[in-house]
Amino acid sequence: MAKAKTVYTCTECGGQTLKWQGQCPHCSAWNTLVETIAEKTSSRYQALAQSSKLQKLAEIGAREEPRRPTGIGELDRVLGGGLVHGAVVLLGGDPGIGKSTLLLQALSLMGGSCNAVYVSGEESVQQIALRAKRLAGGAETLNLLAEIQLEKVLSVLAAQKPDVAVIDSIQTIYSEALQSAPGSVAQVRECAAQLTRYAKTSGATLLLVGHVTKEGALAGPRVLEHMVDAVLYFEGDTHSAFRLVRATKNRFGAVNELGVFAMTDRGLRGVSNPSALFLSQHGTAVAGSCVMVTQEGTRPLLVEVQALVDKAHAPNPRRLSVGLEQNRLAMLLAVLHRHAGIAAFDQDVFVNAVGGVKIDEPAADLPVLLAIVSSLRDKPLPEKLVAFGEIGLAGEVRPVQRGQERLREAAKLGFGTAIIPKANAPRTAIEGIEVVTVERVEEAVARLR
Ligand code: TYD
Ligand code: MG
Repeated sequence: MAKAKTVYTCTECGGQTLKWQGQCPHCSAWNTLVETIAEKTSSRYQALAQSSKLQKLAEIGAREEPRRPTGIGELDRVLGGGLVHGAVVLLGGDPGIGKSTLLLQALSLMGGSCNAVYVSGEESVQQIALRAKRLAGGAETLNLLAEIQLEKVLSVLAAQKPDVAVIDSIQTIYSEALQSAPGSVAQVRECAAQLTRYAKTSGATLLLVGHVTKEGALAGPRVLEHMVDAVLYFEGDTHSAFRLVRATKNRFGAVNELGVFAMTDRGLRGVSNPSALFLSQHGTAVAGSCVMVTQEGTRPLLVEVQALVDKAHAPNPRRLSVGLEQNRLAMLLAVLHRHAGIAAFDQDVFVNAVGGVKIDEPAADLPVLLAIVSSLRDKPLPEKLVAFGEIGLAGEVRPVQRGQERLREAAKLGFGTAIIPKANAPRTAIEGIEVVTVERVEEAVARLR
């Protein structure tokens, strides 16, 4: 096969050069040239030729395709009810978090009822088979392929015509049309584009595994996330048994649904009632800890946020957050000083969401603030207290979505008091929980005395 001609294209201006250079000769940007396949310039009049015709929306038979359940309830929940024909799903996560395990389990379960192919570029077929056998329900009908060359993978898929295929991982696959190394931006983009095209034309569902960078974003080009139909992230602490799968993009379902799993010696097991997982067990009340109710998709989750405020010994004190947004922490400290008169500029402040869960909704503001005040004063918050609420720069406590559901979940788990935004006050009292509404930060802080 003749090598396809490649050129180097600037990711900033789109300019092309024949050789790689550090700086784009067209727009002078540095390190933006990426190897791409040179497209043959076609006839000038090609665009005038008949292409696909215009169709009225009503004429297009868009049947609601039945979704294919993966057999893993928690995964289906994140996907919005199962796999859609022709969809491409990207699953990202830290090494060793369980991406291969989850997809192998899902394919083994589906293997009995449909044609499934597992392509691995990271493990040999023996290793995969060994793992599949160890996991409960390893189906004998699953097809395995250890291959890293895109063209070969595509030809096997074209011959096998699978209903569902897993590519583990997109960073190990390479196309021989490009000279760059597997995992490079150019390779990842080209392979993902070709695989996506294959899925759309054949109707097969593709599940791609993606590596993440040290910062936790998917490695490779950002366009990867635009190309695929759904992006799922695995999160959680590899040291604890609990793993979360979260959708950050889903063309066929709601995002921010959360699937909760526990890693056991027989693979990942779905946790159907996860709301109390992220509470740590304290014998007595401790300072610097506040329980919040976060709403993940359709279900509320109780998470403990912890803060540690300690005298700083360096001129610029540290502000560190794990699982919560760093910038919001700085903002909260400023609001706390300006509106509640509590200064922390000479203190190191650390905050943490227990259990490796990531909270990016602003409802965490109020609980984080309460935990900081509690740690600063070295005084535990009242027992059985939950809180949620967004805090604005003017010191106001803003309402969050689905306040009632959050309160009901807290009451169900035995929490007796809730500090919440005034606008979230339930119209009818919720049994078992006393609701304290606050409008401003200083009110919330005063409640702790
Ligand atoms: P794996 O799926 O290989 O991770 P990834 O593909 O995301 O890199 O997960 C491997 C981890 O899971 C490994 O650290 C061991 C653990 N594990 C179990 O605890 N029990 C099991 O049954 C399996 C298969 C893996
Ligand atoms: Mg793996």
